[in-house]
Amino acid sequence: MRTQVAIIGAGPAGLLLSHLLHLQGIESVVVESRSRADIEATIRAGVLEQGTMDILTQSGVGERMRKEGALHHGIELAFGGRRHRIDLTELTGSAITVYAQHEVIKDLVAARLAAQGQLLFEVSDVVLKDVQSETPSVSFMHGGQPQQLQADFVIGCDGFHGVSRPQIPEGVRQDYQRIYPFGWFGILVESAPSSDELIYAQHERGFALVSTRSPTVQRLYFQCDPKDDVNNWSDDRIWSELHTRLESSDGWRLKEGKIFQKGIIGMRSFVSTPMQYGRLFLAGDAAHIVPPTGAKGMNLAVGDVKVLSRALDDFYKKGNSDQLNVYTETALKRIWRAEYFSWWMTSMLHTFDDASPFQQQIQRAELENVVNSRALSTALAENYVGAF
Ligand code: FAD
Ligand code: DHB
Repeated sequence: MRTQVAIIGAGPAGLLLSHLLHLQGIESVVVESRSRADIEATIRAGVLEQGTMDILTQSGVGERMRKEGALHHGIELAFGGRRHRIDLTELTGSAITVYAQHEVIKDLVAARLAAQGQLLFEVSDVVLKDVQSETPSVSFMHGGQPQQLQADFVIGCDGFHGVSRPQIPEGVRQDYQRIYPFGWFGILVESAPSSDELIYAQHERGFALVSTRSPTVQRLYFQCDPKDDVNNWSDDRIWSELHTRLESSDGWRLKEGKIFQKGIIGMRSFVSTPMQYGRLFLAGDAAHIVPPTGAKGMNLAVGDVKVLSRALDDFYKKGNSDQLNVYTETALKRIWRAEYFSWWMTSMLHTFDDASPFQQQIQRAELENVVNSRALSTALAENYVGAF
């Protein structure tokens, strides 16, 4: 088999790249280890920045997002028994859309298949070869048969645990990492929304987040021990924890409902550089991870792919490799700012077991500053909507 661009992984990064390349007349093949049903059902992100909404719309896959997603013009920060609104649109002119990542995946898979795009699901034993040469290839098993895919480029969109990043030798690569001492317990609930906007709550018992998926399904998270087991959490215990962390004397109450999905995720900040090695390029979680507090992960994957699709277009249309040569540098500027924002939101909103009483007071003062200063609220809003 031969193609122009071999893409490993059918997450948001791999699928969107394949779609954008197709619109530019560049051929690609996507190889994915999981089944279509599995990738279309995995519950992950929910917040799309303005730039992500724009690229989905401009590339013709935004119709369902606009119809079924919820456009939000603000978020709330809750602490000290009060809620404070950050008016994203007034402060930045932009907004966000709450639309589940797996719905974006469904829309992209449908678009690729409608265009006769090659998506190979349930592949195994993926091995990258000769990525430093001009004739790289990918070998893998598909449908019980060994396959060899020759390409001009191999793009690693295979997430944090994929096989692409380790192709860059350790002596060449520099990894930056911070692992947080807490995780998020996430649930999906059958109920009407409790709030028109997302609520990010800081509480002495730990962070909590109220998000949504649709008029009948809600998404809630709370800070937990990353090594905890979901089986330790009965529905009653979950509701009691969420009520305590989110409610105050202002009368607002969290709506309960049937919990139909529970999961725990660990939290880390991670950047691996360079994001390219010969004809191998990394995009999305394969190269970087953020803790979810800033809602940046999927948006960063989309940002990388935007840069990469333009650089590949320049290569194929004009024979110009300049943009490809500076891919890492171009992508990292945006990535480090998002790393900073995600770290900052995480630090400001979570409870650290080892925080001294002094650090606790400083954390509270920082939140007071953010909600009382238009300059700081604007900085938060600009970062949150991805206004640059
Ligand atoms: P992935 O989505 O991880 O896709 C990689 C794909 O590669 C997978 O389908 C995998 O099966 C496949 N793969 C792996 N190894 C191989 C292999 N060897 N061969 C073939 N295929 C392979 N981000 C936001 O922007 N906003 C949010 O609100 C947000 N909330 C989140 C909430 C949670 C609970 C979690 C877990 C994450 C959240 N994120 C959020 C992060 C976001 O989900 C990720 O950043 C995003 O999925 C990255 O996309 P990706 O395409 O780079 O990688
Ligand atoms: C969601 C996830 C996030 O990480 C976040 O910051 C906000 C919302 C969500 O899944 O809805």
